[in-house]
Amino acid sequence: MSFPTHRGRRLRRTPAIRALVCETRLSPDALIAPLFVCEGHGRREPIASMPNHARLSPDLAVEEAVALAALGVRSVLLFGIPATKDAEGSGAWDPAGPVPTAIRRIKEAVPGLAIWADVCLCEYTSHGHCGLLHDAGVDNDTTLPLLARASVTYAQAGADVIAPSDMMDGRVAAIRAALDDAGFEDRVICSYAVKYASAFYGPFRDAAGSTPQFGDRKAYQMDPPNVREAVREALADVDEGADMIMVKPGLPYLDVIRTVRDHVDVPVVAYQVSGEYSMLHAAAERGWIDLPRAMMETSVALRRAGADLIITYFARELAQTLAAPAQIAQAAAPVPVGAR
Ligand code: PBG
Repeated sequence: MSFPTHRGRRLRRTPAIRALVCETRLSPDALIAPLFVCEGHGRREPIASMPNHARLSPDLAVEEAVALAALGVRSVLLFGIPATKDAEGSGAWDPAGPVPTAIRRIKEAVPGLAIWADVCLCEYTSHGHCGLLHDAGVDNDTTLPLLARASVTYAQAGADVIAPSDMMDGRVAAIRAALDDAGFEDRVICSYAVKYASAFYGPFRDAAGSTPQFGDRKAYQMDPPNVREAVREALADVDEGADMIMVKPGLPYLDVIRTVRDHVDVPVVAYQVSGEYSMLHAAAERGWIDLPRAMMETSVALRRAGADLIITYFARELAQTLAAPAQIAQAAAPVPVGAR
């Protein structure tokens, strides 16, 4: 069928028709909101490079979680900012640390929320690397029990989803075994299986104070040119017991999301990372792009590429926008009964 019988514009003519033929839908159910949790009480430290985000003490993290839940967001992802750091990152498994504390309080206040706990050592180590150092490199196998220990600590506090982001080999199996041994065979593991050594984590590292003190993360995070390797990583983690697979960052890796989606049958999660969030804000501040539209477009793009779920710093604004009954309100100005 060709023009003039075929006219693509027919299906774009009105907002209602466009809504009917929309192929990719966004719902607050699919959003996971990251929160940075620090120690203390009543503490809110704005993060300069991430507008509308702050390091929150557990009590304020609870308030944020309550507000998110009221908008229909069902998951939060917690990152810890400890008061002190050491060489092995022992704050990661401190049951009194900011993350376990926030998990317990959020569970109490909003039991229906799924709480995700990021598992990594970089926020807790004095050197800022994601594992134990050995001969100036990060040692894989001695790091595994520490990640497992942190995971069990978060599960004990009530975390529903354990999300290891360290990129050590074999950590999903180590964490699964430790969770099962401790009686947490019901907790989900969402593996950051496909995490690239990316320039887009800069604002996060400001927020978490987790910039490596020397070197970079290229010996454990993936090399941006590779996509076949992403499939190997994803399949290996599914094999080790991962219930969900994450691809990170999001927008520069849409092809990777699609490829991974086509190779695994577990849910695929895309992480729109800090740098993606901040660059949209920065351009909008200069008046160069329309932020609400760019937010929707980039989020839908991640879903269209094959992500089932999205971790996004826009979760709150997205849920707010999705809750608003679009432009229908204007179109349907009330007609007085009897005047039809
Ligand atoms: C911890 C971790 C990082 C991010 C999530 N977990 C930082 C890193 O790997 O350097 C980045 C998230 C973001 O940029 O939003 N390893």
